[in-house]
Amino acid sequence: MAGDAVTERGNWGSKMAFIFAASGSAIGLGSIWRFPLYVGRHGGAVFVLTYIIAVIFIGFTVMLAELAIGRHTQSNPVGAYKFIKPNSQWKLLGYLGVVTGVFILSYYSVIAGWAAGYLYKTVIGAFRHLGAMGGAETWATSDRIFKKFAADPLQMIICLFVIIFLTSFVISRGVKSGIERWSKILMPFLFALIVFLAIRALTLPGAGKGLAFFLNPDFSKMTPAVILNAVGQAFFSLSLGMGTMLTYGSYISKKDNLVTSAGWVCFSTTLIAVLAGFIIFPTLFATPGLSPETFEAETGLMFQVLPITISKLPGGYVFGILFFILLLIAALTSTISMLEVPTAFLVDERKWSRKKAAVIIGIVAFFFGIPAALSNGGVKILTKWNLMVRMDQVFGTIALAVGALLISIFVAYVWKAKNAAGEIMLGNTSFRIRPVWMFCIRFVAPVTILIVLVIIVYGLF
Ligand code: PHE
Repeated sequence: MAGDAVTERGNWGSKMAFIFAASGSAIGLGSIWRFPLYVGRHGGAVFVLTYIIAVIFIGFTVMLAELAIGRHTQSNPVGAYKFIKPNSQWKLLGYLGVVTGVFILSYYSVIAGWAAGYLYKTVIGAFRHLGAMGGAETWATSDRIFKKFAADPLQMIICLFVIIFLTSFVISRGVKSGIERWSKILMPFLFALIVFLAIRALTLPGAGKGLAFFLNPDFSKMTPAVILNAVGQAFFSLSLGMGTMLTYGSYISKKDNLVTSAGWVCFSTTLIAVLAGFIIFPTLFATPGLSPETFEAETGLMFQVLPITISKLPGGYVFGILFFILLLIAALTSTISMLEVPTAFLVDERKWSRKKAAVIIGIVAFFFGIPAALSNGGVKILTKWNLMVRMDQVFGTIALAVGALLISIFVAYVWKAKNAAGEIMLGNTSFRIRPVWMFCIRFVAPVTILIVLVIIVYGLF
């Protein structure tokens, strides 16, 4: 069964191709939009530090676990748990991933749609006048442009449609000519541009204060909420907990080294997140009249700040266009990885054609996305419920954390850590950090995630 599925399913062309595609999945709005937002809300540098620790000890551990399950079973999440533990309820963990994928795709595409809309606005020169403004006026204007845009129902739904359409198109083309080709071309560009914009932001007058907020931890700001959100952000930004990395791992060759692959993905994602912080915080602090309290509640933080940087940059018009193109691409390489999970499930388990699966799930995600698209001013009651933010909490934080907890329990105690380590060693016979990984997957990851979940659930009631 798994044998003929492999040829149907396709494989990565090389180890580099996997690293690009998996980094493409990981790097996206999570690092560029969500990370600075959480840093702003949760005490600045203490959040950054906690996030990095969570990536190293929990994110990396769970990523290696997902890749090992995927490569071992050459299957989608549902098929994978059935393969390792037949006739058990563990397949439900696969279903949880499939459902989570559809929901994250739906609200995430709304934000990706903002990037599409902002690309259009930059092209037509909607931010040019910001360059001549000074002081608090710049922020107020940029804020107004964003809120008007996010509250326009028609524009929101069109943007959502464009994103889901493009995602379904790439996924219907398959692994090699779809996901792999796009990621390989586009990720290096994204990186170069982010570095450039970060340098510009760091040289804005008054940038030092922003940098201090971002890098100089004030430990009195350390609270349980910082830890919860940092761990949640690690899963979200590394695409863990719903079987994305498991599915991408199922297309990896047995010869490839999973440890260095996972290491590169974690490193590049963290690097992009830090660079995004280098853009956002110096710009925020360089804008008079703004303090961390002002931007705490702003879901659109990045979209309010970037037009300011861009408008003050010589040649900003061109860079603005390039930046939003690339943000859009970073978001799309992530949305395609979300759609890949339910698609691989329907192709493998239900024998649907790739095209049919990609189109039908795309339509479902579009409809689920509509209420989220209307919840930023479009429809009063949805705005009051803050629906998009709620969906992000439920699916982007809680469902991923539950998924990651169960994945670590499954690998450590059902499949057994030593069997998983055996799979990892196929492409890396030395696996020197094996004892550390075994300890983390058995104890550090499950215990930490459990504590985090208990505190979150406790906080909800
Ligand atoms: N990691 C992606 C990002 O940061 C989001 C994502 C979450 C993708 C879960 C797949 C699965 O943008």
